[in-house]
Amino acid sequence: MIERKSKREIEMMAEAGRLLAKLHKEIAKMMKPGITTIEVDRFVEKYLAEHGATAEQKGYQGYEYATCASINDEICHGFPRDEALKQGDIVTIDMVVKYKGGLADSAWTYVIGEADEKTQKLLDVTKKSLYLGIEQAQVGNRVGDIGHAIQTYAEKEGYSVVRDFTGHGIGPTIHEQPHIPHYGLPNKGARLKDGMAITIEPMLNEGKWQSQMDDNGWTARTIDGSRSAQYEHTIIITKDGPLILTEQDDVE
Ligand code: MF3
Ligand code: CO
Repeated sequence: MIERKSKREIEMMAEAGRLLAKLHKEIAKMMKPGITTIEVDRFVEKYLAEHGATAEQKGYQGYEYATCASINDEICHGFPRDEALKQGDIVTIDMVVKYKGGLADSAWTYVIGEADEKTQKLLDVTKKSLYLGIEQAQVGNRVGDIGHAIQTYAEKEGYSVVRDFTGHGIGPTIHEQPHIPHYGLPNKGARLKDGMAITIEPMLNEGKWQSQMDDNGWTARTIDGSRSAQYEHTIIITKDGPLILTEQDDVE
């Protein structure tokens, strides 16, 4: 069953999305050499508590942190930890905020200090692939149209698309139907309908797309040690086009 959200549910999710977007902009300011991901995680918990919100990931299937923090060759679900990040490291902070009953999910890859050209290109292409996917999130299109747009562009630019993790429906729980793969064929898969809430969250690797699981049972990393980046938004499919709930340009 694919849920379609009411106007009220969408408004609650939009409030969660705005708070999450603001929080990402605060995190961006912290990304300097010496910062640790456990500090970021503590900051997130404090920020959410101060704003009357909670971290939906904490306690989710036994996950212990407010954020996922995935460094360099970690693809997703990295554990926040007490390890100082260095100039040039990349780190993806992913979090799900619950606020006034609504959920929103957004991941962003940050560079510590200055990005060199190779790093900047990885981040730029990954972010653009997200927005190309979002462009396809139209009433009447199919899930495959989203993945196809992302994969075609990413591979043309020389990156591979992670297949073991996908976007997803969201609300009332983090992971709902349908799966949103970031690869695929046009005009295939579930049809997109007005009121659906989904995440699109492409993970692009510099090397091979395959992932391996760490012993902690959560963290996925590339099999060849290449770096991986990710950008994620929560969106609503509407008759007027995709509505991005976690857009940072929409908040102060
Ligand atoms: N935002 C993450 C995702 O969409 C949520 C992962 S659940 C967690 O995959 F428990 F790992 F945090
Ligand atoms: Co996420």
